[in-house]
Amino acid sequence: MTAPHFAPRVFSGIQPSGGLTLGNYLGAMKRFVTMQDAGTHQTIYCMVDLHAITATLHDPETLRRNTRELCAGFIAVGIDPEKSILFNQSQVPEHAQLAWIFNCVARMGWMGRMTQWKDKAGKNAEAASLGLFAYPALMAADILIYHATHVPVGEDQKQHLELTRDIAAKFNHDYGQEFFPITEPVIEGAATRVMNLQDGTKKMSKSDPSDKTRINLTDRADDIAKKIRKAKTDPDPLPEALAGLDARPEARNLVNIYAALADISPQAVLDQHQGALFGHFKMALADLAVDKLSPITTEMSRLMADPAEIDRILGRGAQRAREIAAPILAQTYDIVGMLRS
Ligand code: AMP
Ligand code: TRP
Repeated sequence: MTAPHFAPRVFSGIQPSGGLTLGNYLGAMKRFVTMQDAGTHQTIYCMVDLHAITATLHDPETLRRNTRELCAGFIAVGIDPEKSILFNQSQVPEHAQLAWIFNCVARMGWMGRMTQWKDKAGKNAEAASLGLFAYPALMAADILIYHATHVPVGEDQKQHLELTRDIAAKFNHDYGQEFFPITEPVIEGAATRVMNLQDGTKKMSKSDPSDKTRINLTDRADDIAKKIRKAKTDPDPLPEALAGLDARPEARNLVNIYAALADISPQAVLDQHQGALFGHFKMALADLAVDKLSPITTEMSRLMADPAEIDRILGRGAQRAREIAAPILAQTYDIVGMLRS
């Protein structure tokens, strides 16, 4: 059996669960733009609204607003809806259709080992939705319905991507053909795990109750500067070498953020700032962050003023996405043995 050649194709998704953070930007979106502009892969980016309803009871109007705001965010950071396919998951029904097939491929034991499931379900798994448990099978379907070969994500999604590979491999094995690609995660750069500004051992997250712990892409310039000035650090100066950041998670986080924003390596940041105290370094970082993020914030609010245009862009994106997804679903159904009408 010879393995078929899969065209280089990038897929990634973000949940429209309200608010985009600097973690989303540096760990995911900024890298989506780099891959789009490299021109080496077709790029497909998705607002995963079906995933966004798995965790908590949500307000329908807020979900619609968050989906449009996420679309505005994608465009504001530099995703071009002509160059990339930009769309909303629920508008392409093939995702949910393939997810059902994958629900029958994935094993309960695999799903039960997912750390995100364990964290989100907490102690009361009995009360969690079935959708939250099946979340990774839908994520595998998002990727594999396009035969995507590469998936840029932050570090926290690594386990889900391993499961995606397991699902593809089991499907291929069970049906005796190399139909789905074994997707490569793309987790690279200085900011694959941007940490909480008040606690360098926790991930920066849009769901943390304290707003001081994160930078939101909708924050005003003075709020961004204030949050960076007030970020937790230590009294030591910046070291000469990266090893000097070991056991200093907050210091390391600010260096990594600087590096990712400036498109330089963390060592290059130390070369420029070694010996500086954090009071000083934070001022430089605040200036850099405001400089890079302010244009995004402004562009997002400009785009949000015209929701009809956002809906038009998403409708067009969904059409283009379906042109790829529909034949792959039809072939999957054939392989599995579903009758065709
Ligand atoms: P989510 O907002 O959970 O849908 O995440 C969307 C993307 O942003 C995923 O690729 C995540 O891995 C990435 N991401 C979210 N938070 C962070 C963070 N603190 N650091 C790096 N990447 C992140
Ligand atoms: N689970 C991802 C997150 O929370 C979002 C997501 C859904 C995704 N489907 C995807 C990411 C497919 C990459 C590819 O961040």
